[in-house]
Amino acid sequence: MRRAVYPGSFDPVTLGHLDIIRRSSDLVDELIVGVLNNSAKTPLFSVEERVKLLMDVTKDISNVRIQAFSGLSVNFAKEMGAEFIVRGLRAITDFEYELQMAQTNRIMNPEIDTVFLTTSLEYAYLSSTTVKEVASYGGDISKFVPATVVDQVFHKMAEKKNKK
Ligand code: PNS
Repeated sequence: MRRAVYPGSFDPVTLGHLDIIRRSSDLVDELIVGVLNNSAKTPLFSVEERVKLLMDVTKDISNVRIQAFSGLSVNFAKEMGAEFIVRGLRAITDFEYELQMAQTNRIMNPEIDTVFLTTSLEYAYLSSTTVKEVASYGGDISKFVPATVVDQVFHKMAEKKNKK
């Protein structure tokens, strides 16, 4: 059984993430998407909500499982019985951070390798941060996130605004 984990914040999941999920799930028997529960950050969506959004947009991919995690990605990968950590590389600007993370992870656990997939060109510019920025000004995010996620982003932003 060849298993990989794809860890990330997914706040929210974008079409770029979905592209990496689809392509990497073709390379392994099981892909576990790990949604980081990071108490140091204040995400737009709670970890439970991010898991739910991911479950919804990946429901047609039979070998993908979504799982929340806290702590180190390598430890999560080991717990899941995964051999690989998958990460997407968009541009050269990602490289330094990703290289540092992959090398640190490899020192912490040499049995787990990081595999990079280059993002499809049409998503090379895309990030969850950009999506939130565009949405915060009421812009159209339908080309950036799956259709089911669009309304939820606006709904969540309105909810947070009303709470202030
Ligand atoms: O989607 P992101 O925010 O780019 O994902 C970053 C993530 C979650 C993969 C990274 O921050 C991570 O692995 N965090 C957990 C702590 C850890 O393992 N850090 C790497 C050691 S340097």
